[in-house]
Amino acid sequence: MASDPTPPKAERSDALVLFGATGDLAHKKIFPAVYEMEADGRLEAPIIGVASSEGDDEFIREKARASVTELVPDFDQAVLDRMLEQVHYVSGDYREGQVYDDLAKVLKGYERPLFYLAIPPVLFDDVVTGLDACGVAKGGRVVVEKPFGRDSASAKELNDVLHKSFTEDEIFRIDHYLGKESVENLLVFRFANSMLEPIWNRNFISSVQITMAEDFGVGSRGKFYESVGALRDVLQNHLLQIVALLGMEPPAGADAQSLRDEKVKLLRQVRTFESKDLVRGQYRGYVDEEGVEGGSDVETYAAVRFEIDSWRWAGVPWLVRTGKSLATSATEAIITFNAPPRLLFTPEGSPEPGPNFLRFQLGKQDGVKLHLHAKKPGEDLIPEPVDLEVSYAEALGPREEAYQRLLDDAMDGDARRFGREDALDEQWRIVEQVLEDHEEVHLYAEGTMGPRQADRLASDVGGWIDPSPPVTTPS
Ligand code: BG6
Repeated sequence: MASDPTPPKAERSDALVLFGATGDLAHKKIFPAVYEMEADGRLEAPIIGVASSEGDDEFIREKARASVTELVPDFDQAVLDRMLEQVHYVSGDYREGQVYDDLAKVLKGYERPLFYLAIPPVLFDDVVTGLDACGVAKGGRVVVEKPFGRDSASAKELNDVLHKSFTEDEIFRIDHYLGKESVENLLVFRFANSMLEPIWNRNFISSVQITMAEDFGVGSRGKFYESVGALRDVLQNHLLQIVALLGMEPPAGADAQSLRDEKVKLLRQVRTFESKDLVRGQYRGYVDEEGVEGGSDVETYAAVRFEIDSWRWAGVPWLVRTGKSLATSATEAIITFNAPPRLLFTPEGSPEPGPNFLRFQLGKQDGVKLHLHAKKPGEDLIPEPVDLEVSYAEALGPREEAYQRLLDDAMDGDARRFGREDALDEQWRIVEQVLEDHEEVHLYAEGTMGPRQADRLASDVGGWIDPSPPVTTPS
């Protein structure tokens, strides 16, 4: 008899400990996610905020309340009150033992806490060592934020630190793009629609483009951004995840290991980025942002072209670009198919039918558009571009936010949507060379689509395809 491939369900975490509870991430993402879990009846665990500011439970409850009232539209006061009752606070210096002793007292009786490290990676070592020393790490799980390290060597050091107290299946490396329904949909869209698979390769696809554009600058995150730049902030993680989902082979199953094995295989085949194929940019005015050094060469824009050495993708150019303070906010992946041969019956001088392309819109208003050609009304057989399009919100209804799904998964011990050590190694290998070896940044005006020097990367594939407005159904 065939054995059951589904591993036994792990026990759910019985407490959530949030290091960095007064920080930006807790405010913007984690407290709203905790609220949604309470609204769905999925919380059932105390939340213990930890930070260095002095304060009591009421202090952190006020922060959590401010986050939810500001960021959750139409929140329910009764749900918020229920959630706040479960919020507690421990304060202290992460480098001293007292904070861990205090935490251990609050965690008495809880056996499987989830520790969420929403703090700078330089503090990981102190925190993990502290958790271990006071005896609360055992049986627990740990969530760490991206970027995971600054390069391969520092990622390895971080892994060593985490592995001192946690096993690999207790470590959850967040990349919130993996928690987005729109991004996960790439996998289902590809493998649940059998008409796509025969054409999803170098014989039919001429290029792949991914654009992640943001129409705002670094805002109050200048200091953080100075330490990462676009390559480390989003390209090494979010955008390579999209590459992996578009390029990978069908996984053997939907379990964490099968999915992650297949992804790693694809990442291994992605060629290491080379400086000749990279264009970095910086929006004018970036150096005047709070926390940014004058004369900074940190990129707020990066565009790169590369290939994937596999039977499926050999010879197909992949182009990826991202930038801040661009003309629009949108995340799109565009698959361009080979252009049709010239229609012999098309009259002289009429436009040539361009290639078809499939546009995945992965931002807030997600959807998909298939750009086709139909006959232009009239006497002659002239093609005119038309779109088949779907808005997922309209077709499928509301979906959960990424952070809610990921927090819920981590509490369940479900690693499907988290990064694995070997995948992270590959992601660093892919970008590592150009982190140091690159030309100076090219300045670009805010509100544009980045430096024009990036045009050369796409000149032989018909140019960069700009994002298109989200799909809306006429009312
Ligand atoms: C974060 C980056 O990981 O992702 C930010 O640090 C970026 O710089 C953000 O703005 C984008 O996330 P989303 O979900 O809004 O596309």
